[in-house]
Amino acid sequence: MALAPLVAGNWKMNGLAASISELDRIIAGGRALTNKLELLVCPPATLVPAFAARARDSGVRIGGQDCHWEDSGAFTGDISAPMLADAGARAVIVGHSERRLGHQESDEQVRSKAQAAWRAGLTAIVCIGETEFERHAGATLSRLERQLGESVPDGAKADNLVIAYEPVWAIGTGRTPTPADVAEVHGFIRKRLHIRFGSEGHAVRILYGGSVKPSNCAEILTVDNVGGALVGGASLKAEDFLGIAGTYR
Ligand code: 13P
Repeated sequence: MALAPLVAGNWKMNGLAASISELDRIIAGGRALTNKLELLVCPPATLVPAFAARARDSGVRIGGQDCHWEDSGAFTGDISAPMLADAGARAVIVGHSERRLGHQESDEQVRSKAQAAWRAGLTAIVCIGETEFERHAGATLSRLERQLGESVPDGAKADNLVIAYEPVWAIGTGRTPTPADVAEVHGFIRKRLHIRFGSEGHAVRILYGGSVKPSNCAEILTVDNVGGALVGGASLKAEDFLGIAGTYR
């Protein structure tokens, strides 16, 4: 059976204790939606415990934005998957382009992080996406094939893996691919997942991310093989985030 669409908010490095009021608005507005879709909010790690406590039993889930590939150890400043799970997270984003490019994370490290997420019982949201240079060079699909092959561990299932296709050039820029481009890429990702993971790969949700807003969500989120959205800037405001989620109402 097909899983419900997932609309996830990546708050990135935004949010203080007072932001719990925004979560409250998401929880309140989400009540009318969570029988049709899943809502996930990924605040900065400092807010995961408070957000998870507040969202308990609400239908809104809380996730992390990154984790280390080891469960514990001498890794100053890092956060492990068991720590996120202990704080109440249900999922974790790994391999976001802001980690791959800003922190030089390799496909191999991303794969190890996804495995760490699974050991801790978390869903791994593995991000992939081409740069503008790669797109212009006609290398989009080969880049994605390589990221999928090397960043996603063996053993992926529909309930432990989510893929987020986030073209790097669309993140925070207001630019988005055309629905036809999204259809081509998501169809390609689906084919690769199906070849590698069989029926599980057929059911893994493939999110689109990059400048998703209430004004453009309808044309992107209704494309074949788009199983939801990973939303950055527009997820910081409950009204916009819920407006996007409302596509699946
Ligand atoms: P924006 O929605 O702000 O473009 O960010 C997308 C993103 O990076 C989500 O992970």
